[in-house]
Amino acid sequence: MLAADPAGTAEAARVLADGGLVALPTETVYGLACDATDPRAVASLYAAKGRPSFNPLIAHVPDVEAARRVGVLTPAAELLAARFWPGPLTLVVPAFEGATCALARAGLASVAIRVPAHEVAQAVLRAAGRPIAAPSANRSGHVSPTSAAHVRTDLDGRIDLILDAGPCPVGVESTILDCTGDVPVMLRPGGLPREAIEAALGAPLASPAIRSPEGPGSETAPLAPGMLASHYAPAAPVRLGAREVKPGEALLTFAGAHPPGFEQAVAYRDLSPSGDLVEAAANLFAHLRDLDRAGAAAIAVVPLPRHGLGEAIADRLRRAAAPR
Ligand code: TXA
Ligand code: MG
Repeated sequence: MLAADPAGTAEAARVLADGGLVALPTETVYGLACDATDPRAVASLYAAKGRPSFNPLIAHVPDVEAARRVGVLTPAAELLAARFWPGPLTLVVPAFEGATCALARAGLASVAIRVPAHEVAQAVLRAAGRPIAAPSANRSGHVSPTSAAHVRTDLDGRIDLILDAGPCPVGVESTILDCTGDVPVMLRPGGLPREAIEAALGAPLASPAIRSPEGPGSETAPLAPGMLASHYAPAAPVRLGAREVKPGEALLTFAGAHPPGFEQAVAYRDLSPSGDLVEAAANLFAHLRDLDRAGAAAIAVVPLPRHGLGEAIADRLRRAAAPR
């Protein structure tokens, strides 16, 4: 673990150039970074995460010029990039095949590109000088890490370096839009709210149907192959829309709500005592980890608003609650 100062940044760029694995902060969550052009590095990243290899990775670059060398920015992608990059938005566009390795794209003809706003991510990307693949820095299926300590819990001993720059300000992953067609499609709600994107486009976003986990029985390939229904899973079962706390349960609440049975909760966390959805998103994964550690029979979650970042929060909680 190194501080994310200039020496730490330089060391991170050196490890990446050597084909190594570096956990680094972005404004959304910590990413596990490697050289997106190096199939050996990408293979070792999949191994460290324990991630199914059909799951493609996001190519991270420092600016829109670098993005234009990784994929074809369609008119909608150019508009959204100009408005929202750097920031918590990932755009899926037709790939330039040689710009990232096929393994990083899981063999797809499209590529997901993101320009993160976090100054440490920016510094590492500029020093690396090549596209960097970076999934969230957790073991596959676990809750995404929003602090360096979370990364260490999941990946200590399996990766080369962790850059510590404190907690991630946004706290949920980037919003992913498929911009390969004429109308952008929301593949994953995330840190950039739908309302902001629709205002910039002047039109509503299309949403894909909810997909079930891939398996021998599923006929359709998922649009965002990483969006398995059961994902972001704490060890304890998660009970959504809870209007009371049952014996043995921990409580995840919002805006100071105290449902009946509150006093007997094994543990509780408030996503945002003031009812602020931005604060709630930033706290979501850390609070789930804290409640999971309390050894509760289940984690009860109060009903939450659905507007703004509420859409991404609801999506992550639905996955945390999915049968597994
Ligand atoms: O905020 C974030 O996006 C974080 C930080 C580290 O940048 N990264 C992140 O990566 O969440 P990951 O690998 O955990 O999630 C990437 C998602 C997966 O669901 C994957 O299936 C989808 O992006 N994806 C990647 N390439 C795609 C493509 N060509 N078409 C559709 N979906 C794609
Ligand atoms: Mg992830």
